[in-house]
Amino acid sequence: MRVCIIGTGYVGLVTGACLAENGNDVWCVDVDAAKIAGLQEGKVPIYEPGLEDIVQRNLSQKRLRFTTDLKEALDESLFVFIAVGTPPLDDGSADLCYVFEAASQIGRLMDGYKIVVAKSTVPVGTTGKINDIISRELAERVRGDIEFDVAFCPEFLKEGAAVEDCLRPDRVIIGTENERTAELLRELFAPFVMKENRFYTMSIPSAEMTKYASNAMLATRISFMNELSRLCEKVGADVDQVRVGMGTDSRIGSSFLYAGLGYGGSCFPKDVQALIHCASGCGVDLAILRAVEDVNRKQRQFFIDKITGHFGDDLEGKTFAIWGLSFKPQTDDMREAPSLTISEALLSKGALLRAFDPVAMEKAGELLTRDGSVTFCPDAYEALRGADALVLVTEWPQFRRPDWERIRSLMKPGAAVFDGRNQLSSAHVRALGFSYYGIGRV
Ligand SMILES: NC(=O)c1ccc[n+]([C@@H]2O[C@H](COP(=O)([O-])OP(=O)(O)OC[C@H]3O[C@@H](n4cnc5c(N)ncnc54)[C@H](O)[C@@H]3O)[C@@H](O)[C@H]2O)c1
Repeated sequence: MRVCIIGTGYVGLVTGACLAENGNDVWCVDVDAAKIAGLQEGKVPIYEPGLEDIVQRNLSQKRLRFTTDLKEALDESLFVFIAVGTPPLDDGSADLCYVFEAASQIGRLMDGYKIVVAKSTVPVGTTGKINDIISRELAERVRGDIEFDVAFCPEFLKEGAAVEDCLRPDRVIIGTENERTAELLRELFAPFVMKENRFYTMSIPSAEMTKYASNAMLATRISFMNELSRLCEKVGADVDQVRVGMGTDSRIGSSFLYAGLGYGGSCFPKDVQALIHCASGCGVDLAILRAVEDVNRKQRQFFIDKITGHFGDDLEGKTFAIWGLSFKPQTDDMREAPSLTISEALLSKGALLRAFDPVAMEKAGELLTRDGSVTFCPDAYEALRGADALVLVTEWPQFRRPDWERIRSLMKPGAAVFDGRNQLSSAHVRALGFSYYGIGRV
């Protein structure tokens, strides 16, 4: 089938590449000419495991093409996916200007029947507005004869496992009011759910709400455990033991129950905010989600307080090794990364930072530039040289079993370890002579 994807970011590029991998002819369109020029040569601008292979294979087999020319891509496609960003505005609402601009362009350029599918995460009612914008553009061109349908298919991929999630989704949700559109979308996505027919067709508002509700629930689980971690410390319980005890209850399940530094990334923070904003506009107070946000904000401060509790508020002359910068492992995405809040707090108190991340240092460098006070190191051990403390921020697997003798030889005597993700054995680290601070552990 012929597909055009507008927006070649984390979602658009992965979706386009995976649709091509399943035999479709896909055009990926972006306004970023440098990004498109790189992709035309098989250079993938983001770190996402497995993505480069799929892009290069489908590019060479000519099922995947990249362009800045939407007209060319539209003319050849039946399906048009909108996968542009919906970043937060200052008031917490989703900025829909990129989505609406894409809709206007479709209306201005289309010359035949299209199924326009929104994949960007958008508030309830947005797909209807996309429909209105396209109709208006067609009316202005006096081309009301050109037919189209709209649908909303929320995207559930996780950065770091996006290719796997896209190729083998738990479910495909299709929001549409039109049975033929649903049928065609089921046909397009059938190869992704071959094992089991996991399609759920529902109204457009329900599909739009499902995406926000899913992210809000996951964020709630994280904040619940983070809040509990503070109580665990006070009463002498270990939040990780509690997590295992709770998570093995089949009614609860074990995912998203890890206490740590709070959620970050490009989705949970903005989607929780957008849902609260949308609800308050309708006179509904989402008190649980307001608390989820509040707990998330405080969790980073809770961790910073552990550091200043150990060293005092003046960190002048202290050096901190920061392990992990991306908002989670297996991605280079720095959007809303806890490492930014923690690094900024330490720098503002006079600290020097020596940071290492396997893939995110280039992006972090654009955000954390400060004359000489942040050094990006070539490996995790180099970051520890002369450091007063190790601060483990992102739980990359390689940080779990480090060579402690080597660490001891590199760091200052009596150094401290702040384990923001409970990756290390507190007993082992303490036995080696370090001070150890985890989250929700005694
Ligand atoms: N990143 C995720 O993990 C994830 C998961 C599920 C859903 N989503 C949602 O998917 C949407 C996209 O997220 P993302 O992380 O891929 O964003 P992104 O910022 O990585 O990519 C968006 C891309 O759209 C391009 N763009 C903007 N306007 C355009 C236009 N008019 N024509 C062509 N290209 C245009 C930008 O240049 C950019 O490359 C958001 O609504 C997000 O909430 C993201």
